[in-house]
Amino acid sequence: MAKVVVLEKDVADKIAAGEVVDRPASIVKELVENSLDAGATRVEVELEEGGRRRITVTDNGCGMMLEDAVLALERHATSKIRAADDLYAIRTLGFRGEALPSIAAVSTLRILTCAEGEETGIAVTVERGEVSAAEQRGAPRGTQVTVTELFANVPARLKFLKAVPTELSHIVDLVIRFALSYPDVAFRLSHNGRAVFASQGSGDPLNTVVAAYGREVAREMLPVDSGEGAPVRVQGYISRPAVTRTSRSYQSFFVNRRLVRTPILTRALDEAYKGYVPAGRFPIACLFVTVDPAVVDVNVHPTKMEVRFAAERDVFQAALRAARQALAGANLAMPALPPRVEQSIQVQTAGERPAVAPPPAPSAGSGAPVGEALEDPFAGLVVREPVADLAPKGK
Ligand SMILES: Nc1ncnc2c1ncn2[C@@H]1O[C@H](COP(=O)(O)OP(=O)(O)O)[C@@H](O)[C@H]1O
Ligand SMILES: [Mg+2]
Repeated sequence: MAKVVVLEKDVADKIAAGEVVDRPASIVKELVENSLDAGATRVEVELEEGGRRRITVTDNGCGMMLEDAVLALERHATSKIRAADDLYAIRTLGFRGEALPSIAAVSTLRILTCAEGEETGIAVTVERGEVSAAEQRGAPRGTQVTVTELFANVPARLKFLKAVPTELSHIVDLVIRFALSYPDVAFRLSHNGRAVFASQGSGDPLNTVVAAYGREVAREMLPVDSGEGAPVRVQGYISRPAVTRTSRSYQSFFVNRRLVRTPILTRALDEAYKGYVPAGRFPIACLFVTVDPAVVDVNVHPTKMEVRFAAERDVFQAALRAARQALAGANLAMPALPPRVEQSIQVQTAGERPAVAPPPAPSAGSGAPVGEALEDPFAGLVVREPVADLAPKGK
């Protein structure tokens, strides 16, 4: 056996990157989470070649000061938690302080940022983990992060990237899910200069459903709410039993607004739809669990997509009850579509289709943009009805 040594920083960073960053979509996820944590009301994602050539995420959030922007590139540098105890009360999407250095370790990363109240912005460039330039530069308030040369220094990972349409569809999926859980934030996603998806940020989750799946689907969604007062609240939308898909990929689950994978909610849905849908068909669903952060552990996996609940049963029961109630009342109520849906934009390129589910719970906060208005690259875009893959329906 050789001697034990502490790994060099660049090796450690690459190992961490292996856990957090495995494809363009995981980079988009981390960058958008940072934008949301920064309080952005507008988040724009621009991609080239499915993100393989370029990913740019621009927000109008709080921005960073020079020292913070440089420090943020260090591992375990975070403004979001301070002490181990904070891990038990996480209210932000990020907390591990690993995303930026991990991404920077396997790409060329540029940050252009301007903090609130600052006269000028700053630009920092990191190439393969080393800061190569940091200078003052004019910038609107907020932050823009651009990632290029992805995995140029990790050929093994580069090999595993899928074709552009596949990588793109993962990102479309993801951005739609963010838009569902943050209806008060205006999201835009473009690919090779073409608009792919946009949400209004109106605060009304049904507008996001319309933008993502079209009015037809939005009309078939039933509101779900287990009610206030209990330690666990489950809200959201589920589809009428006549509207199903052949996979679960149109089911989205969020815990305290964080997109998660959890078998508990999957099982609750299966149970609620028993007898309503045939085997092999799955309802569309978008469920939001609100629970005291102290009883949920999100520090289970580096991607923060897995969670553990202290009271799994309560979560299961609340979801089951809420879904059953919605289904039982299904013939009584049709959800009213929000007004002015025609403002939603949905443009899809051939072969791309978002595979996701519906909307979230009411959100606090207003959608009013703050700070510098970003130029609107989508202005004048032709609006048309979405063509999302709608399984045959009818009741
Ligand atoms: N878009 C952004 N706007 C403002 N601050 C940001 C942004 N992205 C990153 N930061 C700052 O950089 C820090 C490090 O980010 P990251 O590596 O993703 O770790 P984490 O999100 O876990 O704190 C964050 O804590 C935050 O202070
Ligand atoms: Mg982060």
